[in-house]
Amino acid sequence: MTIECTPLGNRIGAVVRGVSLKDVPDGETLDTLETLLEEWGALVFPDQEITPAEQVAFSRPFGPLEETARIDARLEGQPEIFVVGNTGKRIVSFAPADGSDDLEWHADHMHLKVPARASMLYCKETPSVGGETVFACMYSAYDALSPEEQAQAESLTALHSVSGLQKYLKTKGEKGAAEGEYASPQQLTVRWPLVRTHPLTGRKALYVGSKVTIGIEGWDEDRARAYLDDLLARATVPEFRYSHPWKPGDAVLWDNRRVLHAGTPFDGSLYRREMHRTTIREDQPIL
Ligand code: SIN
Repeated sequence: MTIECTPLGNRIGAVVRGVSLKDVPDGETLDTLETLLEEWGALVFPDQEITPAEQVAFSRPFGPLEETARIDARLEGQPEIFVVGNTGKRIVSFAPADGSDDLEWHADHMHLKVPARASMLYCKETPSVGGETVFACMYSAYDALSPEEQAQAESLTALHSVSGLQKYLKTKGEKGAAEGEYASPQQLTVRWPLVRTHPLTGRKALYVGSKVTIGIEGWDEDRARAYLDDLLARATVPEFRYSHPWKPGDAVLWDNRRVLHAGTPFDGSLYRREMHRTTIREDQPIL
C-alpha cells in the first residue's frame, strides 16, 4: 500500500495513511516514516485498532523503548505502555492542574539523563470536550529569533528537573507523584544545550520546557526565569502549533528532538481519558 502524507498546517503535523500499526514496519516503511517524522514533527495515524502488544511491536524498530519510571502507570502485562489519563490506578496528567491555559510544555524525559527521541500516544478513550494534545514546532521557534538572539541562545545551557514541575503543582494545591512511586530516582538536574541540532538534518531547534526547565547555567534564578518565560511564549505562538483533537483509534508519533507538546485540561468528573504511550529512547548525543 502506498504511504500518503497530508500536512495539517504549514509548519507541524501531518496525517499519514497507508500504514497499519498492526504490522511491524519493514525497512522501507521505517525509512519513509523517519523522514516524514523529522519533516512534520508529529504524524497522525487515524483509525487504528491495535492491541498494546501491537503498539509496542510497531514502536520498537524506531529504537529501544523506555518503561515509565511511574510504576503505577505501567500497563499490566505490557510495561512499555505508559497509561496517561484518569482510568488507571492513578491519575496521570500533563495538563495544567488548574484547568487554565498555562500549559506544561515539555519534550518527553528532557529531565532525565537519557531523554526520549520520539513518543507515540494511542487513544483508547477521550473526552468529548477538552483533552487535546498540543504540539509546537521548535525549528520555527529557533528560526523566528533574530541572529543575535540565536547566537545568545546557542551559547546557553539549560537546566531541567522534575522538581520544577513539582514546585508548580504545589502552587496549584496538587501533590504530583511522590519519589517512592518512581522506579528510579528522579531528583536530579540535567543540563542540555538550549539549542539542539537534529542529527538527521542538522536543523536547529529550541530545547526548553515550561515547568521542567528550571534555569540557565550561570544565571541567577530571576534572570533565567524571565528569559525562559519570554522565550517559551514566543516559541509556542499559535502559528507554530498543531492541536490534536483525539478520536479513539488515533495514534500520534512525535519527534521530541524538534517538537514540544502539552496536554490540555478536561473535566475528569464527567469524562474518561485513556491514552497509551510508548516512549523511544534517545540514541544520539544531544548537541
Ligand atoms: C504526554 O505528555 O506524553 C501526554 C500528553 C497528553 O496527555 O495529551
